[in-house]
Amino acid sequence: MNLTLRVWRQAGTDDQGRFETYDAHDISEDSSFLEMLDVVNERLVAKGEEPIEFSHDCREGICGTCGVMINGQAHGPQRGTATCQLHMRQFADGDEIVVEPWRASGFPIIKDLVVDRSAFDRIIEAGGYISVETGSAPDANLVPVRKDAADLAMDAAACIGCGACVAACPNGAAQLFTAAKLAHLNLLPQGEPERDARTEAMVEVMEEYFGSCTNMAECEAACPKEISIDFIALMNRDYRRGKFHNRRTA
Ligand code: SF4
Ligand code: FES
Repeated sequence: MNLTLRVWRQAGTDDQGRFETYDAHDISEDSSFLEMLDVVNERLVAKGEEPIEFSHDCREGICGTCGVMINGQAHGPQRGTATCQLHMRQFADGDEIVVEPWRASGFPIIKDLVVDRSAFDRIIEAGGYISVETGSAPDANLVPVRKDAADLAMDAAACIGCGACVAACPNGAAQLFTAAKLAHLNLLPQGEPERDARTEAMVEVMEEYFGSCTNMAECEAACPKEISIDFIALMNRDYRRGKFHNRRTA
């Protein structure tokens, strides 16, 4: 395939940034989007030019590190697919492809396509854990868990923290990420003791960094793990419950 790339280049957070055009010729349609960028970068390095910075780690849709806007869509045109799992056969020979970093004030650009997603870490630090005494692990079936709750918690735990939901949202909201992280703990008996405190703390940290949800559902459409916006409804319910219970506890 022969393609033209228009790639966002930005030297650092304070740089204004600009689009640069690159010729990406002789690209295999079986290569992934990141492998295509690897080929372009190898050619740039061979010419003595600076390669395009982009984030990646597992390249298996697991770690959540990758993620760019491709022709204006978070993770590109294939639904339920992270950038590293997107293949070039999704594009046509001769296409022009616009590649940009996530655009959200909660994710400042570090360089080129790399953004700082540490605001997600702040949300997790506020309550994305359960507190347990150390000791030997109990038998897995000692704590009964309802099948429907286990299935829902598992669906929520599929969130890889990529940030596509924020990038796709016109408000730059992080409700889907936060809701998924809350649900996979709040739905299980192990997460119940800290449910109220966790929900209040994580939602309030989220609101420090990100915009508000207006039910556009762009997040669900962009999510590579197809996390349902129903989890946002669960989060809102738990937040109201937490506000009431936490006040009574105080
Ligand atoms: S909810 Fe989906 S889009 Fe958002 S961070 Fe998790 S996996 Fe990525
Ligand atoms: S590189 Fe790990 S999810 Fe894409």
